[in-house]
Amino acid sequence: MSIKGILLAGGNGTRLYPLTAQTNKHLLPVYDKPLIYYSLATLMLAGVREVLVITRPADAAPYSALLGDGSQWGISITYAIQPEPAGIAQAFLIGRDFIGNNPCCLVLGDNIFFGHGFGTTLQQVTKHIEGAHIFGYRVRDPERFGVIEYGPDGRKVLSIEEKPAKPKSNYAAVGLYFYAPGVADVAAALKPSARGELEITDLNNVYLEQGNLYATRLERGFSWYDAGTPHSLMEAGQFFGMMERHQGLKASCPEEIAWRSGWITDADLASLVKPIAKSEYGQYLAALLNEKGA
Ligand code: DAU
Repeated sequence: MSIKGILLAGGNGTRLYPLTAQTNKHLLPVYDKPLIYYSLATLMLAGVREVLVITRPADAAPYSALLGDGSQWGISITYAIQPEPAGIAQAFLIGRDFIGNNPCCLVLGDNIFFGHGFGTTLQQVTKHIEGAHIFGYRVRDPERFGVIEYGPDGRKVLSIEEKPAKPKSNYAAVGLYFYAPGVADVAAALKPSARGELEITDLNNVYLEQGNLYATRLERGFSWYDAGTPHSLMEAGQFFGMMERHQGLKASCPEEIAWRSGWITDADLASLVKPIAKSEYGQYLAALLNEKGA
């Protein structure tokens, strides 16, 4: 059994119009790379090497031109179509054959994560997935998200509600979800919500009712962005630009994660760098090889 990863990158990006009039939002820039690189990097940090990217019909071509079959990064990327944005939980029905009898991780293509030890946290989760495992992050405006209400011990989940008018806590459920084998069957039993979508929160509520929902908190100091609005897209770009200026480090580069994970060799990284050597991105990757052991 190996964990499968689904990257959901459909939707119409209506909150970003006119940026999204001719481009899918996951191709928009966040500082130095397309938005979709960040969610792909999250899957890779979790140790996921088989990825299904779900897109709108019109976007399959640009995504496969951008990401290819993943072999350049030592992973496998395949593609599937979501005809209409009929809900996040539909990803498991579209990906049913891909998931097979394996555990599965879903990441939303507009979610960006950054924090010390994040890869280790994710790999701890993937070691043993029981039921569903989600993540809570403290925000100022919880009514924009799925909201997790924790019990007094700060661990047990009491409720999870989608965009409640009166949120029971400040903890947003971020767009990263892990499930034990069988999630497609649970999703298949869901009914569309009042807005006509198969809701991820309804899916998680099934696990909650079974006493099988776990929710790790991403603590103070961690950074999470849902880059679905012009402001959050800009903030995320500024954050990564600032970090690079301070530390000289880039984050969420698939090439770097693949190389550090041992999925590609020094020679592979060098040949990826060659055609992009004039870009800052390429120069950053080249420097990794030079600084090896520094
Ligand atoms: O970002 C975290 C939030 O994402 C969670 O807190 C919410 O519980 C969850 O419902 C979701 O809320 P959003 O309102 O942000 O979802 P949105 O419709 O913006 O879609 C999120 C991503 O998933 C976006 O990249 C587009 C993609 N998507 C969405 C839907 C509904 C699809 O590819 N297909 C879909 O059918």
